[in-house]
Amino acid sequence: MAAELVSIKSGKQGNLLLVDDDPNVVAILQEMLDDGQYNLISAYSVAEALSIIRRQNISMILTDLMLGDGTGVEILQEAKRLHPDSQIILMTGRPTIQNAVDVIKEGAYDYLVKPFGIERVRMTIERAAEKIRLEQENIKLKEMMSFYQISEAMGSIIDLDALLGLILKTAIKEYEADCAAIFLAKEDTLELGLRLAIGFEESEFGKMVMEHCQDISKQTVAKAASMIRNDPEIEFDWGERTIKSSMCQLLMVKGKILGTISIVRYNNNHIFTSGQLSGLALLGSKAATAVENFNLYEDLRKTYISTVEALANAVEARDSYTRGHTERVYLLSCAIAEELGWSPDQFNDLKIGALLHDFGKIGVPDCILNKPGPLTPAEAEIMKKHSAAGAKMVESIPFLKPALPYILYHHERHDGKGYPMGLAGDDIPLPGRLLAVVDTIDAMTSDRPYRKGRPIAIAMEEIARYSGSQFSPVVVDACLAAYRKGKINFLFQ
Ligand SMILES: [Fe+2]
Repeated sequence: MAAELVSIKSGKQGNLLLVDDDPNVVAILQEMLDDGQYNLISAYSVAEALSIIRRQNISMILTDLMLGDGTGVEILQEAKRLHPDSQIILMTGRPTIQNAVDVIKEGAYDYLVKPFGIERVRMTIERAAEKIRLEQENIKLKEMMSFYQISEAMGSIIDLDALLGLILKTAIKEYEADCAAIFLAKEDTLELGLRLAIGFEESEFGKMVMEHCQDISKQTVAKAASMIRNDPEIEFDWGERTIKSSMCQLLMVKGKILGTISIVRYNNNHIFTSGQLSGLALLGSKAATAVENFNLYEDLRKTYISTVEALANAVEARDSYTRGHTERVYLLSCAIAEELGWSPDQFNDLKIGALLHDFGKIGVPDCILNKPGPLTPAEAEIMKKHSAAGAKMVESIPFLKPALPYILYHHERHDGKGYPMGLAGDDIPLPGRLLAVVDTIDAMTSDRPYRKGRPIAIAMEEIARYSGSQFSPVVVDACLAAYRKGKINFLFQ
């Protein structure tokens, strides 16, 4: 079966299908209803009516109950399957209570008894139209509530995957889908890569559904147009399970294609409608904004990391003894932070903090900073000012603030004998406690003009010896665990 595209409503209130095997009845109805409200379409058999509703979007159907080649109930069932929002009114010349009950049970809106007057027909159609309108309002309201929740989340969730996950879950819930996926396009080639998928089974069937999503996403990007696909070609036997309907929307911002959002229904009887495709467009626009914001944020973050690296290099360029120190400090800190189970956000702050922890040395005179021998007590006092001075320099720059605890507290000691504030134990923020250990390891293992650097194994013994006095036991334990796992040795080879 070929892919089927659903057309957009053509009349003011959509298409109204009139079905009767008596052409006179159809002609009378056409005359009665020819007021421009609906685009009127006629059919004279069940087969003809089914062919029309499979090709076009239909808002309402007025059909005879008994037709030459079948019953109006067959038309009703197919219309409800393909166009769940449509309303169907049955007509008959031979009414029975049982007939009326049966058709209403099947989902018909009403039941008209022939012969009928113009007022009765118009009134029934108007009430059915009102029901359609109210149901659509209700759907819109529900959609708006979901969109509102997503908009709220966009203001508070920075994690792109968490936001996209919320959007996919909303799409699955709102449109009674089984699975949903977002593909993002490469900026230059528009090549698609899966960013997030929800509801896909880990089975051969799940793999095929994913390939289907990829396929409709590629087509959507190639045509730069959204689509609904019903009953796609089945390339191999999926047994009981099959894809009933799927739809795909472009993620676009200011004319730029960022990717696609696609959702799939398996064995559900209903296929997606053009109204639902429009709803998915709204969800897609939220996803596109989230992706665009994330990209802008990432660009900004990269620029800002380069600025921080330039600042760190400026300090290192002045201090000839600590070349490569900040990079080693960063890598060593990462190994310990991993053992402490830090979050991605904490790792981001750690990068800036490790790079800038000695930023205050920029204010220490060259003769002290580059002195080839040990410092005099007076010189040491000047050197000690670098942590507070560095903190003062960055505290007024919002994007450097995460570095503050690293800069200010990395010379504090667990026993309270450190500087600049003499804090003790857990009063010292964890970034400071972490960096105190790392800074010491790097200093011990680095060569100085007046002494050779010691092996990392010796540095580890020293760190362990001073756990609970100079260093925080929590950090020392994490450091020794990382060392035992081989995460530290390679930095000192
Ligand atoms: Fe320092």
